[in-house]
Amino acid sequence: LERIVKVSDAFKAKPGERVRLRGWIYRTRSSGGVIFIILRDSTGVIQAAIKKQNVPQPDFENASRALIESSVTLEGIVREDKRAPGGREIEVKSFQVIQFSHPFPIGKDQSTEFLLDVRHLWLRSQKMTNVMKARSKIVRYLREFFDENGFWEVTPPIITKNECEGGATLFEFNYFGQRAFLSQSAQLYNEAFITALEKIFVLAPSFRAEKSRTLKHLTEYWHLEEEAAFYDNEDNMRLQEQLVSFACNKLAKNDSELLKLLNRDSKTLLEVKPPFPRLSYDQALEKLREEGVKIEWGEDFGAEHEKLLTKGLKKPLFVHTWPKKTKPFYMEVHPQKSEYVLNADLLAPDGHGEIIGGSQRIWEYDKLLQRLKEEGLNVKDYEWYLDLRKYGSVPHSGFGLGIERLVKWMLNLEHVRDAIPFPRVINRAYP
Ligand code: 4AD
Ligand code: MG
Repeated sequence: LERIVKVSDAFKAKPGERVRLRGWIYRTRSSGGVIFIILRDSTGVIQAAIKKQNVPQPDFENASRALIESSVTLEGIVREDKRAPGGREIEVKSFQVIQFSHPFPIGKDQSTEFLLDVRHLWLRSQKMTNVMKARSKIVRYLREFFDENGFWEVTPPIITKNECEGGATLFEFNYFGQRAFLSQSAQLYNEAFITALEKIFVLAPSFRAEKSRTLKHLTEYWHLEEEAAFYDNEDNMRLQEQLVSFACNKLAKNDSELLKLLNRDSKTLLEVKPPFPRLSYDQALEKLREEGVKIEWGEDFGAEHEKLLTKGLKKPLFVHTWPKKTKPFYMEVHPQKSEYVLNADLLAPDGHGEIIGGSQRIWEYDKLLQRLKEEGLNVKDYEWYLDLRKYGSVPHSGFGLGIERLVKWMLNLEHVRDAIPFPRVINRAYP
């Protein structure tokens, strides 16, 4: 008797077993009264041979008429066949078309822009399918890490009246006559959660009106943010290297087949283990200058600088203790060096860019108020945030990790938009 199976099961079934499969036509060709269809489902592809004498007349006619990407169901016997991809073939006994596909617009060697225009159809490509699977696994491992380490998952608002990461990248909109923004970061809210839950994390979209086109900027991205009471910047960095190593090692151990399909060798990911190398901002600056880079103290690093600093590294690199003037208002000032803050950026190897930004937070009322004023922010909008320093404030730290940036590095993708199904960049909000 037939049973409905996945393509991956058909490769494990006993030869001679009768199975039913559902999916989409990946390739089709006919030769000498046989139609060869490569059937695709979420688990892979398998060849199916439809011989005229083996199936009812209408089934054969439908099979010969069905174009690629038609949705179909078929039933047949699993056979071993060395000539077929993966060494297996289904000898088809019955074949039905669920929907005859229109001619599929995506062919070979299409331009990147065109593939972005038809992203809704390109998602089913082997490349995108594998990236989405890997991303799903990575997110699962990140959650697992927090879960195993006593962190609570919480949900911040996306509509907010506060800027967190500077006015230049704010998406502003009219909220029933009030000025409001799309969240740049859940951080300020995360700081409210910790008085109840102590250790929390959030996975939510963040928005940045990035006006530049780069390999690592999206206007909408998924942001994994952590906040913990009583953590200092040291604890914060240690947690980050544990989290990133956990995800890398899990993916390498559990999903090596998937990684192979993505041309990413698991060995490099297995080597990602704490501790990660560290440089202070000043040390990093010195290193850049030794390489002949002209850069002023207090300047942020560009893509080229990050590339130079991380060239050939096996693990991500922390750049810590940044000049206060390059960073947002909420970062705790260094107790001995008042021009610096207690923070760290985590840079992925080989120029993949910053994957995490984190810091210790200012936890005392007067200092926070002063910094808000220095930055010219409207104190009224931050009263609730200041309140957190009035009622049982404690030293605390946190960080934010860009999921797409992490996926880009872990899978060695060229562009951050390859790591997200429907990328939003300056010139694209469709499809
Ligand atoms: O360094 P950022 O701006 O830090 C914050 O938002 C903090 N408030 C986080 C916190 O402490 N809770 O952003 C954090 C990370 C970056 O390291 C990067 O990985 C990612 O978010 N990111 C982006 N990813 C894609 N596109 C963009 N435009 C991004 N901007 C930041
Ligand atoms: Mg940053």
